Amino acid sequence: VLDADGTVLEANPAALALFGSVAIGASGGTLLGRDSGLESLAGTVFTLENERDYRVDVAALPAGSPACQVILEDVTDELSEGRRATRYAALVVAAEESQRQRVARELHDEPLQLFLHLARRLENLGGSKGVPEHVSVGLDEARQQALEAATRLRNLARNLRPPVLDQLGLVAALRSFLADIEEETHLVTSFRVRGTPERVAPDVELGAFRIVQEAVRNTVRHAKAQQVSVSVIFQANQFALVVADDGEGFVRDEKAELGSGHLGLAGMAERANLLGGAVTVEAAPGRGTVVSAILPAGEAPPACAS
Ligand SMILES: Nc1ncnc2c1ncn2[C@@H]1O[C@H](COP(=O)(O)OP(=O)(O)OP(=O)(O)O)[C@@H](O)[C@H]1O
Ligand SMILES: [Mg+2]
Repeated sequence: VLDADGTVLEANPAALALFGSVAIGASGGTLLGRDSGLESLAGTVFTLENERDYRVDVAALPAGSPACQVILEDVTDELSEGRRATRYAALVVAAEESQRQRVARELHDEPLQLFLHLARRLENLGGSKGVPEHVSVGLDEARQQALEAATRLRNLARNLRPPVLDQLGLVAALRSFLADIEEETHLVTSFRVRGTPERVAPDVELGAFRIVQEAVRNTVRHAKAQQVSVSVIFQANQFALVVADDGEGFVRDEKAELGSGHLGLAGMAERANLLGGAVTVEAAPGRGTVVSAILPAGEAPPACAS
C-alpha cells in the first residue's frame, strides 16, 4: 500500500517474499527500479530480479483513504506466449521470403531461358530456306507466343522478389510494380511520393513493398475498380503508405477470412506489426477501399561507395 506520494505504507507477506524486504517509507517506484509517479506506473510491465514479468495495477482503497493499493500480477507466461507467437510469425515471414527468392531464381534460370531458347529456334526455323509461307507465318506466331510466355515469367519472377527493391529501393520498386499492373490489367494507377525519399532498413523496404503489393493485388482481384493510387509519405524516422481504390469496397469479416484461408489482410497487419508499425483498412460497400500503413524507417543500409 502506497500513499499519494508513492511512499510505501504497508507491505503484505507476498510483497516481502517478492522483494526480499520492503522498507516502509521508501519510494514504491524505486522498488520497481523506476522513480516515477503512481499514475505512470499503472499498466506498465516490469521484469524483476527473479526474471519474471509483472504488470502493475493501481487500485484506490475505500473512500476517504488517500492511499492506494499496488498490485503486481505475474504475466510472464502470457508474455512469453506472445513473444513465441511473434517469433513464430517472424520465422514464417522469413521462410516465405526465402521460398519466394528461390522460386524467382528458378523461374528465371530454367523455364524463362527455355522459352527464350524456343523463340530463337522458331525464328531460325521460320527463316530457313524452302519453308512454305503459311508454315513460316505459323512459326512466327508460335515465336511470339514463346516471347509472351517469357515476358509473363519474367514479371512473375520480378514480383516474387523484385531485384530493383534491393538495388534502387522502395520508390523505384513500387513504380516498376505499378507499371506492370497497368500493363497486365485495365486499372489506371497513380503514384505519389511526399517528403524526401530515403532508403530505409532493407527488411522495412521489403515489408512495405509486400503490403502495397497485397493491397494492389486485392484491388485487382476483388474491387472492380477503375483506379488505384499509391502514396508514400516520408516523415522523420517513419513513413506512411496509402493505397486507395475507387472500387466497390467491402465489409471486413476477420473470422471468415481466417476460416477460409484468406490471409492477405491478416498477413499485411502481421508484417507491419513485426516491423513495429501498423496497418489500417477503411472500406465500406460502394465507397472503395483505403489501406494505410505506418512503418518506422529503421536503420538505413550504408550508402554504396561505388
Ligand atoms: N480492395 C478491395 N476491394 C474489395 N474487396 C476487398 C478488397 N481487399 C480485400 N477485399 C475483400 O476482403 C477479403 C479478404 O482479403 P484478403 O486479401 O485477406 O484475402 P484474399 O485476397 O481473398 O486471399 P489471399 O489470401 O490470396 O490474399 C477478400 O476476399 C475480398 O472479399
Ligand atoms: Mg488478398
